[in-house]
Amino acid sequence: MGRFLSTVARAFWAMLPAYVPNNAAVLLGGDRPIDGGRTWGSNRVLGDGKTWRGTLLGTACGLVLALLLNRLRTYVGAPTGLSVPRFGRSALTLPLGAMGGDMAASFYKRRSGRDRGAPVPGLDQLDFVLGALSLTALLSPKWFRRVFRLPVLLAVLVLTPLLHVGTNVLAYLFGLKDEPY
Ligand code: CTP
Ligand code: MG
Repeated sequence: MGRFLSTVARAFWAMLPAYVPNNAAVLLGGDRPIDGGRTWGSNRVLGDGKTWRGTLLGTACGLVLALLLNRLRTYVGAPTGLSVPRFGRSALTLPLGAMGGDMAASFYKRRSGRDRGAPVPGLDQLDFVLGALSLTALLSPKWFRRVFRLPVLLAVLVLTPLLHVGTNVLAYLFGLKDEPY
């Protein structure tokens, strides 16, 4: 496998546990909002789009996926010669950080007076990446430095917005989301 493709593949693999939680939350979320309906100033703290069920099930899906990927590693590596990372503590910090980043963005959106679902181009595509990378860098620094070398990091920053826009448009077309972003 060429250098470019293997960099993209490793970036995708390493970030999968961070990609899945937000999409799982869209499918499985709902019910009680985390902020319990509370407001701060004239707006909700987080809004109805951040629920306990979405956050917990989203994080759980990312964690389970990471453990599954660990089992698939050897089967992928042997035929392709591709060396993909093995998740350790990152199996939890990636999905949890992704949900946290998404939540922080909602907090910011409510503070700036934006209603639930209001788009903030750029932030919407990268909030969960920044959350996942930050929490992982903080709690699993060695793993982070080993896996997210500069080329992989750059691949993540380019690849993620593209994937995010693509999956959200699909979710919108299938009627799972109210807005295509
Ligand atoms: N969701 C959830 N819990 C989360 C994140 C998402 O239940 N922690 C579900 C909600 O049903 C939410 C949907 O996934 O409406 C889409 O997520 P997102 O786009 O992040 O939320 P928005 O509704 O757009 O709200 P916000 O403006 O706060 O981003
Ligand atoms: Mg949204």
